[in-house]
Amino acid sequence: MTEDLFDPQPKDDPKALYGREKELADLTKHLEEGRWVVLLGPRRIGKTSLAKCAVAKLGYDSAVVDARQDSDLAHALVSSLASTKKADASISAGIQLPAHIPLSAGVAYSRSCFAQTLDHLLNEKRRKRVVVLLDEAQWFKNPRGVVKLLAHIYDYHYRKATLVITGSAVGVMRSITEPDAKSALFGRAITTMEIGRWSPSVSLGFLEKGCSEKKLPYDEGQMSRVVDEIGGIPGWLTLFGYVYGTSRLPTRERIEDALERTKREGMKILKEELASVSLLAAGWERQLKLLRQLASGGKRFTELAVLSGLPNQVLSRHLAMLQRLRYVEKDEDDRYVITDPILKEFLAQPTPK
Ligand SMILES: Nc1ncnc2c1ncn2[C@@H]1O[C@H](COP(=O)(O)OP(=O)(O)OP(=O)(O)O)[C@@H](O)[C@H]1O
Ligand SMILES: [Mg+2]
Repeated sequence: MTEDLFDPQPKDDPKALYGREKELADLTKHLEEGRWVVLLGPRRIGKTSLAKCAVAKLGYDSAVVDARQDSDLAHALVSSLASTKKADASISAGIQLPAHIPLSAGVAYSRSCFAQTLDHLLNEKRRKRVVVLLDEAQWFKNPRGVVKLLAHIYDYHYRKATLVITGSAVGVMRSITEPDAKSALFGRAITTMEIGRWSPSVSLGFLEKGCSEKKLPYDEGQMSRVVDEIGGIPGWLTLFGYVYGTSRLPTRERIEDALERTKREGMKILKEELASVSLLAAGWERQLKLLRQLASGGKRFTELAVLSGLPNQVLSRHLAMLQRLRYVEKDEDDRYVITDPILKEFLAQPTPK
């Protein structure tokens, strides 16, 4: 069954992937050529969907490791490879772990046991390339261990395993995208793709097509307001479409209600995200304060320096972190702005005492 555009799950059918033709073509080309790819972008922009659709389009086997669910990469990778989703089950069936290798939650692998297990899972029986999707990789624990493990896969299994790594460029992800000379990944070529927001016209096109699929009323004026309020972020637009489509209210109230519910749900997701980021980002309290200062409107560096009282070097370090997290962007007037309108609205709320 094909997915519809307002389906809230990440898409894995390229037919249901809207407005990403160029990104899909670029990613599939990289994968066909065996290149490892990092997909960077803000929350809900469609990183997981793009990765899944590229794998589906190419018909490769795939293994998914979601760092939000299992932050121990070695364990998660072995479990996931052992249950690889086969594009063609008849071809690579029968790859099983030897009996002496444990596969239950919480097992800590020694490096040699892990290497042996991995070598076995990516063995000769596997005729097709497997794409390993490391989703939201910034949440993996033990950055040095993760980097070493990835370097092992790169050096020994490049022809069999191609990695697609998603997330924002902090924590482990930074060690992957910008390895220093001492890093085990230094010198390995990894391609970075930035996944951006949709323009207002692509966003409207998405809502129009989604409404037509579901036979929902579509009024361009009202939907333009929706796009103004929640921006060109596919995840928020999908959530809006889903809530709009399942509501029983009369049309006019229905749009208002769906917009409010989308914002509320979005804020819940972002609140959790900010709580997790606080554990990851050095100097987070300062950065959060800067974000709150930007929630009232974009500001230039000099303005922020006065407002925050921070020395230039310190301020620019914090702003660089907020840009890596994809919360902040510089606009054409050199102003730092919050990119996600829902995040902006959330941060503009008075902080609870
Ligand atoms: N190009 C697209 N076409 C149709 N739907 C999309 C597209 N991109 C994203 N979506 C929808 O938006 C939502 C978020 O997508 P996805 O989970 O792929 O984003 P993400 O960047 O991985 O998000 P997260 O930061 O939560 O991991 C999902 O409901 C997905 O179906
Ligand atoms: Mg994702």
